[in-house]
Amino acid sequence: MFDRSIYLNRRKSLRNKGLQGVGLILGNGESPMNCRDNTFHFRQDSSFLYFFGLDFPGLAGVIDFDSGKDYIFGDDVDIEDIIWMGPQVPLKENAQKVGIENTAPVAKLFEFITTTIQQGRKVHFLPPYRGENKMMLEKLTGISSLQIQNYASLQFIKAVIDIRSIKEPAEIIEIEKACATGYEMHVTAMKMAQPGMWEQKIAGTIEGIALAGGGMTSFPIILTQHGETLHNHNHSQLLKKGNLMLTDAGAESLLHYASDFTRTVPVGGKFTQKQREIYEIVLAANNRGQELTKPGTTYLSVHLAAAEVIVSGLKDLGLMKGDVKEAVRNGAHAMFYPHGLGHMMGLDVHDMEDLGQIYVGYDDEIRPVDQFGTAYLRLGRKLQPGFVITNEPGIYFIPALIDKWQSEKINNEFINFDKVNEYRDFGGIRLEDDILVTETGSKLIGERIPITPDEIEAIVSI
Ligand code: GLY
Ligand code: MN
Repeated sequence: MFDRSIYLNRRKSLRNKGLQGVGLILGNGESPMNCRDNTFHFRQDSSFLYFFGLDFPGLAGVIDFDSGKDYIFGDDVDIEDIIWMGPQVPLKENAQKVGIENTAPVAKLFEFITTTIQQGRKVHFLPPYRGENKMMLEKLTGISSLQIQNYASLQFIKAVIDIRSIKEPAEIIEIEKACATGYEMHVTAMKMAQPGMWEQKIAGTIEGIALAGGGMTSFPIILTQHGETLHNHNHSQLLKKGNLMLTDAGAESLLHYASDFTRTVPVGGKFTQKQREIYEIVLAANNRGQELTKPGTTYLSVHLAAAEVIVSGLKDLGLMKGDVKEAVRNGAHAMFYPHGLGHMMGLDVHDMEDLGQIYVGYDDEIRPVDQFGTAYLRLGRKLQPGFVITNEPGIYFIPALIDKWQSEKINNEFINFDKVNEYRDFGGIRLEDDILVTETGSKLIGERIPITPDEIEAIVSI
């Protein structure tokens, strides 16, 4: 964990947000895989980690905005736990490491919350995403677990997002560590991208690199020759010469900060002319994205600028036609690029998505765009120094989408469907980097994973 001063400062920032009553942040419990004692790898709740730092199951943190006191509720282990899990540090001692003196068993949390409600004080909580915590909140507040999501405190959500959006220097160091592991994962995948290799073998090998780095992957690995399926977790195919292999993968650091990179490589090491041409467009969009990323600029405008690079490139190849800006205004790029340019990244790969994407990525000034493609943009608002974001344009040929648009004549005036149909079995290309917004612009986090076609060919051919 970080130094206790970091957790003290974070809770102080939260206390300075003008909330009244208490803020309750539930940690996560163990999550059974197929029976109670056979659990998934434990992952603490990110907001709990952020403000209370302790990486163990079964805890709850409370910030009393009225009295200024902080509490951690949790149960100390008993002798049976010690027999199976070894000696454990008492909760009181652990809590002191994050600057908290007040600890109590979980049973006391019920008394505490009941009393707070009886006093007419507000209990602010964040939207729960795990069934166990929904049930816990139902028991604590009396609100049905089916409805509890709607009672999360917007004021609390916005305060937490405000604070977590700006990464501290110590957090950047953690993200750099996650990026260094991500680098190793991707270069390893590139070297293994040989005809006759199973996708699963590469996915398993690079997942092992994440685990060996001390953390786990920051999300389930996407590794596929069908990159046109955006979140393809099927790794069941043998690699075939001439195909593209798309790998979207990242690691968590020991303190659970994420990395998230995508690279696309030719199986066997040589891009075809067609692949290289599309690849260069995606790379140009990625480079343009980073070039435009700076404080004060909206990420929505950067997303649209990347879309213009894509349309312009596809027009040069004869796949699109018409005025580039008008095509983007009409959303014509989205048949090839049906997702957003990127998202916030931090303790979560899609940082704070559990708190509500609309609050993380948008504000009163920049509202979500209700147009196919851009509607998936997770971050649209003005960038600020300290934001860590991803830059991940892509071009995909999705046969079902091509057929739908062609038959319904969607954006017919901007798309040469005859030419597009020559690319039906192309797959997809996405290139993703992780970026820190600085005071004056932006910088890539960590060493850039090889990305030019020549760099890629040299590595895959080794
Ligand atoms: N890396 C997966 C995603 O950003 O959705
Ligand atoms: Mn991403």
